[in-house]
Amino acid sequence: MKLKTIGIVGAGAMGSGIAQVAAQAGCKVIITDNFAESLLNSQKLIRSNLQKLVEKGKIEAPFAEEIINNISWTDSLADLATSDLVIEAIIEEISIKKKLFAEIELIVSSNCILASNTSSLSITAIASACKLSERVIGIHFFNPAPIMDLVEIIPAIQTQQNITDLILQVITSWKKTVVLAKDTPGFIVNRIARPYYSEALRIMEEGIANIETIDYAMTQLGGFKMGPFALMDFIGHDVNFRVTESVFQSFYFEPRYKPSFAQKRLFEAGWFGKKTGKGFYDYTQPSELQIDTDISKIKYIYERILIMLINEAVDALHWQISSKNDIDLAMQKGVNYPKGLLKWADELGIAHCVSLMDGLYEEYHEDRYRCSPLLRKKALLCETFY
Ligand SMILES: NC(=O)c1ccc[n+]([C@@H]2O[C@H](COP(=O)([O-])OP(=O)(O)OC[C@H]3O[C@@H](n4cnc5c(N)ncnc54)[C@H](O)[C@@H]3O)[C@@H](O)[C@H]2O)c1
Repeated sequence: MKLKTIGIVGAGAMGSGIAQVAAQAGCKVIITDNFAESLLNSQKLIRSNLQKLVEKGKIEAPFAEEIINNISWTDSLADLATSDLVIEAIIEEISIKKKLFAEIELIVSSNCILASNTSSLSITAIASACKLSERVIGIHFFNPAPIMDLVEIIPAIQTQQNITDLILQVITSWKKTVVLAKDTPGFIVNRIARPYYSEALRIMEEGIANIETIDYAMTQLGGFKMGPFALMDFIGHDVNFRVTESVFQSFYFEPRYKPSFAQKRLFEAGWFGKKTGKGFYDYTQPSELQIDTDISKIKYIYERILIMLINEAVDALHWQISSKNDIDLAMQKGVNYPKGLLKWADELGIAHCVSLMDGLYEEYHEDRYRCSPLLRKKALLCETFY
């Protein structure tokens, strides 16, 4: 059953990280890229990651050497011929990915499983480029792949059940936490996490509070590791804005996922956040944080963002995107939320959650604030999620 030889296409941040994970699990890994510099950078990145692990005493030097020896870098796609599993991690562009999958199929054996690490594209559309589309699946790692525990597994509508079962086993054996997601935009994490950014942006744009106060509310009261603005700056507005736009378009312009102009402007200015020195915060010079510590305002911000997250998680369950356990696990392992959102709903009280959503709807009369039918049903039946 073992998938021993893993081909990776795309030697960027994700491809290199996934290669390291697979090699660390004892697989033979072949990485290919059509850009020579990426191959060189990938070697440097993996070597330096392993060196750091040795220095921290997490692995022994001979094991680091073994991992490096498990990996080879090549500019020829044909070298993937012996792969049992190929994971694609190239540019996020559907037509290029489809072309690549059709090419790979001509090189590998008919038993080889083909996977995409796409964050936002349809696995079903990618699979449609292959003759044996039943062997295509989504394996979505998070960045940086060697550190982030979560992997979303996304079968396309064509994917055979035994392929999904096998991939769940294999990625678990690579010491990752796997969750199963339906092939829908954003899968689990990138869909449910949207309100963490969008509602924070809205609160700021309406002038209810400044970014420092919103970040303070979510970290101090909510227990989130990073506030929404610090987190968006960290992810980069190039990445975060594009994902928001892509989710919004893929959901046929669902108002809940509407991107914000404040973020669009940062994106347009090239103020991508920490990596460019400026985003919502200015990283080029020390500045004093202007936090409004009015407790009722802090509580309002925290509750408003949290209820939008809970509503999103409940709605994902309503649409059977994943199981309740996987939804809660994904948000804790994929974006380090302090608690599963469905568990959090139970703790807040389902009726209270409904009244918070209805309060927002009453105030704005916008579709964005409609309460998920499942949340309302649970309240009516006096049920909890767990
Ligand atoms: N960066 C993230 O946070 C993240 C997280 C999860 C998933 N992803 C997904 O992973 C994929 C890769 O993202 P990344 O951040 O590693 O990108 P990246 O830009 O760091 O790397 C992409 C690599 O693919 C190579 N490439 C492009 N077209 C190619 C082709 N036709 N054949 C071979 N190589 C090609 C490029 O030279 C580059 O080295 C994307 O689909 C992205 O959506 C990214």
